[in-house]
Amino acid sequence: MSTLAPPMGLIAELTHRCPLQCAYCANPLEMVAPRAELSTADWLRVIDEAAEIGILQLHLTGGEPMARPDLAQIVAHAAARGLYTNLITSGVLLSDAAMAELLAAGIDHIQLSFQGAAEDAADRMGGYKGGHARKLEAARRIREAGLTLTTNFVIHRQNIADLPAMIALGEALGSDRIEIAHTQYYGWALKNRAALLPGRAQLDEATAQVAAARERLLGRIVIDYVVPDYYAERPKACMGGWGHRFIHLLPSGVALPCHAAQTIPGLAFASVRDTSLVDIWRSDPAFARFRGTDWMPEPCRGCDQRELDWGGCRCQALALAGDAAGVDPVCHKAPDHAIMAELIAADGPCADVPAPPLVPRRLAGV
Ligand code: FES
Repeated sequence: MSTLAPPMGLIAELTHRCPLQCAYCANPLEMVAPRAELSTADWLRVIDEAAEIGILQLHLTGGEPMARPDLAQIVAHAAARGLYTNLITSGVLLSDAAMAELLAAGIDHIQLSFQGAAEDAADRMGGYKGGHARKLEAARRIREAGLTLTTNFVIHRQNIADLPAMIALGEALGSDRIEIAHTQYYGWALKNRAALLPGRAQLDEATAQVAAARERLLGRIVIDYVVPDYYAERPKACMGGWGHRFIHLLPSGVALPCHAAQTIPGLAFASVRDTSLVDIWRSDPAFARFRGTDWMPEPCRGCDQRELDWGGCRCQALALAGDAAGVDPVCHKAPDHAIMAELIAADGPCADVPAPPLVPRRLAGV
């Protein structure tokens, strides 16, 4: 890359605190304790730096970003600096008062996540009794506020049979967009993979159901569908390419090219506490490590897809094939592609084989 364009978005994990305990969470197993979180002043400065380098979007996530009492202040500051603000929330803390505060602050978009369509199962997965009912209320508040509503359903082996009901729920709630996302196996989800990975028949049925819903809802509701990497033939362009479109900030201020980058040994990541966002983007060796195509091994280097998939996912190449600089084993051209079939055989059995128990996501020591 001769000239480095500014990142499109800043993904801000404001906190790892969360009232929910979803076993499919992509947060790292070692989460950031509240005492180590950036202060309000830090976040406002980071937003100034983001605006200065031309970042357009601020994605506020967590954990549960609404657990931060200064969320509205952060949103207002971002809006004043011209950033598009997108709140990704479980909705369980989205009261009338919180909604009014966010609206006054200038929030642009809210993405509301659901653990399923059936109240009992959803509350069980979230580890939060009454959570599903609160989410329904949150959806109503978002619609009444006149905001665009995206509902997000993460699917896995234990709730995939309810997919038609999830789409119906998203429709009934007045969603403008419904995201059906197969679990991505990082962090807690990777730890729980054997309990979450669907079988091939389950996946095929879900894919057909999404296709039918897309046709039925065409022109009314957009349905995004995120397939599980494990069954793909082509790798995804993870984060739109390493160090290419996004900066991902941990609650502590550590800046990463992707949420799981700290799993890669030998990379040191700077913090916005002592390095500016622009210096991190332009000069941090960790951001440069897998940027562009020069780092690629064959067959990626000679592949005509290399500037579309950017070599797939480095963290997954490490987690599944043991080499972050190797070919993503999801790719059908990868020397290690057979690993995927072995993993599916081991962890993605037929629906009638009982799944092992889930390990709930827990923030230790608080
Ligand atoms: Fe790190 Fe994909 S999650 S590169």
